[in-house]
Amino acid sequence: MIEPLTYLRKLEGKSNAHLITFSDGKDYVVKYFQPGFEKSLPNEWVGYGLGRYLGLPIPFAKIIEIPPEFSAQVPELSEMSLAQHQFASLYIPNCLDGHQVSNVSQIINHQTLAGIILLDYWLCNRDRTRKNILLREETANSYRLAIIDQAEIFGSYSWNQFDLETLPTELLKSTTHQIMASFIEDETQFIEQLELIQTIPILLIEEIVEVIPDDWNVSKDEKKAMVTALVTRRKRILPDLMNKFIKKIYQPIHENCQNG
Ligand SMILES: Nc1ncnc2c1ncn2[C@@H]1O[C@H](COP(=O)(O)OP(=O)(O)O)[C@@H](O)[C@H]1O
Ligand SMILES: [Mg+2]
Repeated sequence: MIEPLTYLRKLEGKSNAHLITFSDGKDYVVKYFQPGFEKSLPNEWVGYGLGRYLGLPIPFAKIIEIPPEFSAQVPELSEMSLAQHQFASLYIPNCLDGHQVSNVSQIINHQTLAGIILLDYWLCNRDRTRKNILLREETANSYRLAIIDQAEIFGSYSWNQFDLETLPTELLKSTTHQIMASFIEDETQFIEQLELIQTIPILLIEEIVEVIPDDWNVSKDEKKAMVTALVTRRKRILPDLMNKFIKKIYQPIHENCQNG
């Protein structure tokens, strides 16, 4: 397992995320388990695992253990009682977020955008803000997009088992989704991504959920409820949400483009 070497800085945001250099020579964004945000790390892990399977651009991540002596040097952490495991995602340097970029002429990995939108609808991610995408400029005004921050999938960072049975089935308000939709070149990409989501082996979904460390305190029943929500939503809810998204958001954007 990688070990933390140097503490660099705290990152902006509510998540208690810290930038740390590890023994593999790389920098990772580390999120600690926090009271009040009990489902943040399980959400990050499940969102990451599923997104990765779908081939979506999510920074490489792992579940790690930081020795308490290391965390004790960080004032924000020294006061907290710390869980044994943390969630670490590889830091992508030289990125801007969706607020910091105004002139995007091309998204280099635009083939992944329909998959990102469907992932967010499948998982009910209400936090795909412009801060939760990273854009790296590769040639003038051409950007590679990555997604970060899956802490609020399943509707919130502090859901309970019963919330998972009543997750919203409506369109999400997300300017980021609208921006992404404008770079999707063909409506059929949504259908292809839906098919991919619907054919993920249930055993794999169960396995990803099973890997959640015990010290993140997700009960057996809650884990079961996560799997049930994922399987139910991809079959019954996601196709309908996809059609609504295409009709209400995707198509109007592309009609405007043709007219204008
Ligand atoms: N893998 C990453 N690479 C580069 N920057 C990141 C990465 N993950 C997070 N960040 C930065 O850290 C900030 C906080 O992380 P985020 O996961 O969005 O947590 P939250 O918004 O819940 O505090 C982000 O807005 C972004 O600026
Ligand atoms: Mg964020």
